[in-house]
Amino acid sequence: SFCCYFVCCMFVLFSFFRVSLSVEMTGNFGSFTSPNFPQPYPDNQHLVWNITVPKGHRVKLYFTHFSMEPSQQCEYDYIQVLAEGNETLRFCGEEAKNHESTPRNTVILSAGNVMSVVFRSDYSNEGRFTGFQAFYTSEDINECLSTIDGEAVCDHFCHNYIGGYYCTCQPGYFLHDNKRSCTVPCQSQVLTTLSGVLTSPGYPSPYPPMSQCDHTIRLPEGYRIFLDFVEPFDVEKHPAAICPYDTLKISTAGQEYGPFCGSSPPGRIDTGSYQVHVTFRSDSSGKNKGWKIKYTSTRAEAVSVM
Ligand SMILES: *[C@@H]1O[C@H](CO)[C@@H](O)[C@H](O)[C@H]1NC(C)=O
Ligand SMILES: *[C@@H]1O[C@H](CO)[C@@H](O)[C@H](O)[C@H]1NC(C)=O
Repeated sequence: SFCCYFVCCMFVLFSFFRVSLSVEMTGNFGSFTSPNFPQPYPDNQHLVWNITVPKGHRVKLYFTHFSMEPSQQCEYDYIQVLAEGNETLRFCGEEAKNHESTPRNTVILSAGNVMSVVFRSDYSNEGRFTGFQAFYTSEDINECLSTIDGEAVCDHFCHNYIGGYYCTCQPGYFLHDNKRSCTVPCQSQVLTTLSGVLTSPGYPSPYPPMSQCDHTIRLPEGYRIFLDFVEPFDVEKHPAAICPYDTLKISTAGQEYGPFCGSSPPGRIDTGSYQVHVTFRSDSSGKNKGWKIKYTSTRAEAVSVM
């Protein structure tokens, strides 16, 4: 129809006059301005400056001049600043008139190493606004001051350097492959005495993250092992899921018990077996006291028959 044709035509015309441009900026510092600066900026502009600084750095942006058409919520002409991990900011108005919507003297920091700055002007610049001049520099991110899921970046010690960071551990611990957790190797034990004790590493001090313990109680055939869990029992748990973080499991040739976690010890287990495996796994976070098992044994009835 004519109507549709007309709308299409208008769209084509509009696109034709609209200038759209994207500029890549790399390097540790730089500056850019609105077109024709310090003369008034032209209409129908849509320009994007994509700033990328080296990894482990953030972009620090500030404006030394700012004069753009003021409007409600900056809907006509504006500067928009986008950076992953940050809320999007939009500015307009005149710095010289102290408009609140201008960036004024603030320094805008990105969370990561990329920032985009969008300049947009609509079809009219009646006030002859002169636009903006912006500068950026890169700044080292001190990763040691940040957190991952609410936990410190490193378990024990964090060392920041220009462009990155690394973790180290207290003596006696070693850095796990995840480059962050400090753990102590859990010596797999094989217990052959008729009664004895097994605990999580360091019990009752908090067990280390990323623990992998595999213990075996192995008595002569014909014995029957009983397990008693001693207080305190404290293994990281979740209110809705079954032991998703840290788990203690008991198994015999024919039976599995657990996984166990939480703060109340499981009841006595009569394993009915002369051989029992105790496996324990912990994840990278949490501070829990762990567990202690006292085991005893009896000779099974059937075997005592001569
Ligand atoms: C510039 O950055 C924006 C958003 O960060 C992205 O969508 C766009 O593709 C980038 N442009 C170029 C030319 O890289
Ligand atoms: C962006 O995020 C970083 C880190 O979360 C913060 O330090 C910075 O102030 C934020 N910048 C803006 C403009 O919100």
